[in-house]
Amino acid sequence: MLFILCLWYSLKVGDDMSTVHINAKKEDIAKIVIMPGDPLRAKFIAEEYLDNYKLVNTSRNMYGYTGYYKGKRVSVIPSGMGNASMGIYSYELYNNYDVDVIIRVGTCGTYKKDVNLYETVLVDTSYSNSSYGKNLGYNENHIKSSKRINEKIEEASNKCGINVLKSNIHNTDTFYNKNEFNYDCLGVEMETFALFVNAMIFNKDASALLTVSDNLVLNSKITAKEREKSTINMIV
Ligand code: HPA
Repeated sequence: MLFILCLWYSLKVGDDMSTVHINAKKEDIAKIVIMPGDPLRAKFIAEEYLDNYKLVNTSRNMYGYTGYYKGKRVSVIPSGMGNASMGIYSYELYNNYDVDVIIRVGTCGTYKKDVNLYETVLVDTSYSNSSYGKNLGYNENHIKSSKRINEKIEEASNKCGINVLKSNIHNTDTFYNKNEFNYDCLGVEMETFALFVNAMIFNKDASALLTVSDNLVLNSKITAKEREKSTINMIV
């Protein structure tokens, strides 16, 4: 009898229990998650744009927040850097927290001379030689973002008069990478591939909006401090 009670208790409490990397209560994470890489950018987004927000995740200092944007409940949870870290957080959010939509808001470098710093990019397809997908049985080197969410993002950006470049993106596991430029893509970043693979596995939605932070041909970049706050066009 004691065993049955313990089992019942652990299953019941299990609903509210944290995962290995996220210590938020299940009910404290919204169905829609905005996902910057940097925890400081998550804090900035919550402070600037959310009403009645509260801190819901503190594990590993990956501060995550849930609040309301124009009355809609959203969470802002950081992914950390790279497919490995994004892979962990987005997997747990879809699988354990029943999140439906994750929109990455991050930065990218561009391979194109004529693309300006601070330009906003809406990712169509992510191209990668990362092993992230292969390890989960997905053997393609490219994966698409959510058509449904991208259409909504395009609609919203048109309404706000914000110019968004819709493009393919190169995804890499190696930041200091001199040998792998993919000139068919507008630029490069390190998280979309794992996010889109996880969305496919769990039959959920994922999209990505990126601010151009570096021009890899012209060797120009925006500063770390500016990066923290460079989400404005991606968020409004
Ligand atoms: N490489 C990879 N990821 C990036 C870059 C870059 O140059 N800039 C912003 N994210």
